Amino acid sequence: MSIQSQLDQMVSEASPLIAGCASLVELEDIRLQFLGKKGALTEILKGLATIDAAERPAIGMAANQAKTALSTLLDDKKSELETASLAAEMVKNAIDVTLPGVGTPLGHRHPISQTIDEISQILGRLGFAVEEGPEIESDYYNFEALNIPDDHPARDSHDTFYMMSGHVLRTHTSPVQVHVMEREKPPIRIIVPGRVYRRDADASHSPAFHQIEGLLVDEKVTFAELKGTLDYFLKALFGAKQSVRFRPSYFPFTEPSCEVDVACVLCQAKGCAVCKHTGWLEILGAGMVNRNVFRKVGYDPDQVTGFAFGVGVERIAMLKLGIPSIKLLTDNDLRFLKQF
Ligand code: DAH
Repeated sequence: MSIQSQLDQMVSEASPLIAGCASLVELEDIRLQFLGKKGALTEILKGLATIDAAERPAIGMAANQAKTALSTLLDDKKSELETASLAAEMVKNAIDVTLPGVGTPLGHRHPISQTIDEISQILGRLGFAVEEGPEIESDYYNFEALNIPDDHPARDSHDTFYMMSGHVLRTHTSPVQVHVMEREKPPIRIIVPGRVYRRDADASHSPAFHQIEGLLVDEKVTFAELKGTLDYFLKALFGAKQSVRFRPSYFPFTEPSCEVDVACVLCQAKGCAVCKHTGWLEILGAGMVNRNVFRKVGYDPDQVTGFAFGVGVERIAMLKLGIPSIKLLTDNDLRFLKQF
């Protein structure tokens, strides 16, 4: 067979193969089979040696034409297959932008933070501004300046964490009263939410817990204002019908002092385990700021008077939300936390 017909045959053999090829891998195999170093074209051109030198240029040209023809077919097919595979890829990975998105579940405030926020809001309406103070205190601020000297029996009830440096983890938020009064002149009207520490742990006590301290100092502040403020506060917190009672008590930093009870919110004052069958729940301590405390901060106790109070946040949260154990508030169990 002449070289020319071999070339023609090669082209007519390759063309339908290329046309029917379905993948890029297969197409490369076809290219190698015909145009590769050891392919059909190379094989055919070996025959050139037997050809008259005069005819060689014409055959060479025919061979080039055949090669170009196949290359063009191969290139066209290649881009056709590439376009098709890209299109298939796009269909496979298509994103339906009209589908609803995958929502990120929103967290929310911890019940303790919620309770602090609510109390701060209520007292904020009465003009109390939020203050903060250090959790590591000197003995002076935690005790001494609050009229609790070294040998005072009230120290026993505080179950204090002492540090090597002689500092303490504050056992209450009351020391912030002293910081603020040292820094500012009356009138003062502040609340101090914060973490406090005591060596104590059971169903209603945790070594770290929260208090909110209140302090109001001005000229001619009376016990009646203390009562009115706390009565308003507790009714705003527990409901307008909430009964509130004031009992005489003792704190070194207030004189006179009282404790404030609310009618048991769990049994409606009928008597239950939580109120120890008294019908009442002790909810906060308060009193008129002791003259000795004013002296310590450089105020003249004949010029100013004031009242202070301290309330435990965990207790309020547990009562309001019906939480039976204080540990639930720090376990960080999402099944518990999600309920609030
Ligand atoms: N600091 C007291 C305590 O932790 C609570 C307290 C009682 C604070 C009476 C006061 C107050 O400001 O007047 O037990």
